[in-house]
Amino acid sequence: MGFKAELAARAGQVDAFLAGCLKGRGFPAGLLEAMEYSLLAGGKRLRPVLTLTWAGLLGLDRESALPFASGLELIHTYSLIHDDLPAMDDDDLRRGRPSNHKKFGEASAILAGDGLLTEAFGLMCASGLARGLPADRVLRATSVLAAAAGAGGMVGGQALDMEYTGRPGLGLDELRTMQAMKTGALITAACLCGAMLSGAGPEDLSRAEAYGRAVGVAFQIVDDILDVVGDQKALGKPVGSDQEKGKSTYPALVGLEESRRLAGVHADRALSSLAPYSGPDAEFLRDLARFIVHRAF
Ligand code: IPE
Ligand code: IPE
Ligand code: MG
Ligand code: MG
Ligand code: MG
Repeated sequence: MGFKAELAARAGQVDAFLAGCLKGRGFPAGLLEAMEYSLLAGGKRLRPVLTLTWAGLLGLDRESALPFASGLELIHTYSLIHDDLPAMDDDDLRRGRPSNHKKFGEASAILAGDGLLTEAFGLMCASGLARGLPADRVLRATSVLAAAAGAGGMVGGQALDMEYTGRPGLGLDELRTMQAMKTGALITAACLCGAMLSGAGPEDLSRAEAYGRAVGVAFQIVDDILDVVGDQKALGKPVGSDQEKGKSTYPALVGLEESRRLAGVHADRALSSLAPYSGPDAEFLRDLARFIVHRAF
């Protein structure tokens, strides 16, 4: 199977789980509709796929890691809904459809995000019971994920992003920190949690973390690049939004060419942390690091 087909297969496994995970739970119909509108709108499913693949690489069957991995997609989707709100990036298009607040209004979009965030933790905790994973592994992974999604991770990075919007003279160090938090933390945690669920030892854990860090940096640099040179139809979100809103980005700070070079440097770092591994999961993670740099969506 080629990489694209393999990515589609792994993302499809996540999609199938997500399609049923919120139903039949007694949520108000309008809230459920708004949550599923964004959750089931496609998306690359990169974060859960990373969790599944790291779990698989280190010896856990992917099916066991699936509910936990899907929790990451709920958190990511909530972050996108809130990121698009008028008080934040004020973007009208996401995953190829009107943004959540455009479709349902701001109050519903805020609550859909709140619902997804909270349900994610329920799903992850329950995954231990449902899939027979050892409780200490699930607990440790959940706590890593909470730190990555919270005020010292994604939420903190989003706060810095807002603070830095429209600010001239931002340094590369500040940009790096902001991006490592808003995007890198969740991607790193995705890899680390997969490794943790499989019961990995310290060496494997630190390789998973190093891979996630490097891929996370490359991923957000390319996200910034695509906001300048990407195709709106392929991306499913607006192009030119960062410049319009005065966002601090890699292309704004160091130019497109240097941004591309840096993305490549970090992808290479990700590849070196995979050096000890072989087999289909390792090969997939190598292709994924390359895909992140060369992707068009
Ligand atoms: C977009 O993430 C937001 C960032 C953190 C850069 P993705 O590019 O993974 O978005 P989806 O999930 O595929 O829609
Ligand atoms: C968002 O970064 C990161 C999140 C935590 C959601 P961006 O604001 O660049 O993401 P897009 O470009 O809107 O997807
Ligand atoms: Mg943003
Ligand atoms: Mg945005
Ligand atoms: Mg962006």
